[in-house]
Amino acid sequence: MHLFQTIVGLRAYLGRYWRKRAIGFVPTMGALHQGHQRLLEMAREDNDIVVASIFVNPLQFAPTEDLDQYPRTLEADRQLCDRLGIDAVFAPSVTEMGTSGEIGENLTRVLPPASMMSGLCGASRPGHFLGVATIVVKLLQIVQPTRAYFGEKDAQQLAIIRRLVKDLCLPVEIRPCAIARENSGLAYSSRNQYLSPSQRQQATVLFRSLQKARESFQSGEVQGQILLDIITRELAGENNVRVEYVECVHPMTLEPLKMIKESGLLAIAARVGETRLIDNVILRQRQPIIAIDGPAGVGKSTAAKRIARQLGHIYLDTGAMYRALTWLVLEAGVSVEDEAAIAELAARSSIQFLQPEGEDNQKVYINDQDVTEIIRSPEVTANVSAVAKHPAVRHHLVEQQRHWGEKGGLVAEGRDIGTHVFPDAEVKIFLTASVSERARRRLQDLKDRGYGLVFQEELEAQIRERDRLDSTRKMAPLRQASDAIEVQTDGLTIEQVIQEILQCCP
Ligand code: PAF
Repeated sequence: MHLFQTIVGLRAYLGRYWRKRAIGFVPTMGALHQGHQRLLEMAREDNDIVVASIFVNPLQFAPTEDLDQYPRTLEADRQLCDRLGIDAVFAPSVTEMGTSGEIGENLTRVLPPASMMSGLCGASRPGHFLGVATIVVKLLQIVQPTRAYFGEKDAQQLAIIRRLVKDLCLPVEIRPCAIARENSGLAYSSRNQYLSPSQRQQATVLFRSLQKARESFQSGEVQGQILLDIITRELAGENNVRVEYVECVHPMTLEPLKMIKESGLLAIAARVGETRLIDNVILRQRQPIIAIDGPAGVGKSTAAKRIARQLGHIYLDTGAMYRALTWLVLEAGVSVEDEAAIAELAARSSIQFLQPEGEDNQKVYINDQDVTEIIRSPEVTANVSAVAKHPAVRHHLVEQQRHWGEKGGLVAEGRDIGTHVFPDAEVKIFLTASVSERARRRLQDLKDRGYGLVFQEELEAQIRERDRLDSTRKMAPLRQASDAIEVQTDGLTIEQVIQEILQCCP
């Protein structure tokens, strides 16, 4: 692992990878804990090169805050990064980052929307998010990562960063990571080290109160004020906890919510002794997303289609999306190699799925034209992988899939649905079958279709090679999400597989 303290050194190292390899970036202020570890592990899984920055940013601390006391544990942090296989740690000095001056006096600043900075932590920490936004944009410019990772514990920070990446058109994908908690429920935080053992115990009330509100939401309560009252009552039971705020806001815009229609963020800031802690929970009023991943030939698409029909959900046929776009590309006379022209076409088109009453198969539309049949033509089949291989195409279609996912009520299958497309899916299934079982099924299928003279061994070798390619490919590699339920399908009929999956669905 490399350690860099200068921007020039880090950029000289990364220069050879820019635009050629996927770079993951985890910005931190050090004092790394389990929460950071999850971010680093996620980044390690998704990318070729991973950079972590360790920089206690003076711009985000008010003069009265704990900048000088903030824990600095560079050697331990460096060792952890090394153990996790991180490629480079960037640990610049304040001078190197040019952040010793007064923000706004002699430093260009990045100003997020006032409406996102005024509430929650912004109310008691004016200037904090200005300092965060400025340093994050600066770090993103230095590292130029493909993806950057942020924890959901800092929900306001995450929403602001997502917004500024969108508003400033920064070419980076922001990946959120769920809150990591100790067994007691206490969210990991660098500031937990300020807590005495009894304060640590008292601090668990934050999560307990959020859990109570979540349970009430799950049993149908959607009024923001009632959920907030539940939290406040629970927090009041702990003498040593002084509440700074308890709020219910939209997780993306941070606007206060009276009622949770689709999703809501319940957020708390409180002091336990002198230590300021934050915690939150995201509540979703959506129908579940069922993500089914697994190797080729395991029966994912048959299972996904039938489960969607049974539950009255949309079957998110991602393959049909790539096919519909390919059809459009061919119709428009655009070369399948022209990534920019295809991306332009994709961004200006709209794909839709519709399930007609009483029919088995759903219909696929692109720009309001029914292309259900035509996208199965040999011409489309011959060109679809050339179109799908372009990162810009995939990026755009994944964005569209996530947009549909906001309402939920869909079943999607693929190789990285639960890890990449819908990491927050309510149900994640990983369907597997041994190589010999998949070869046996394929052999049977070929025989049924009148193809003779195919050997099981030959099919097994092909399947092994396909598995290898699928799990090592750069784009959308096959991976099992850590929270996926594995369903081993050897010896099971498709009906049995469907029953097993349905048992996991709410
Ligand atoms: O979340 C943090 O640790 C910091 O706010 C960040 C994003 C590294 C910016 O200094």
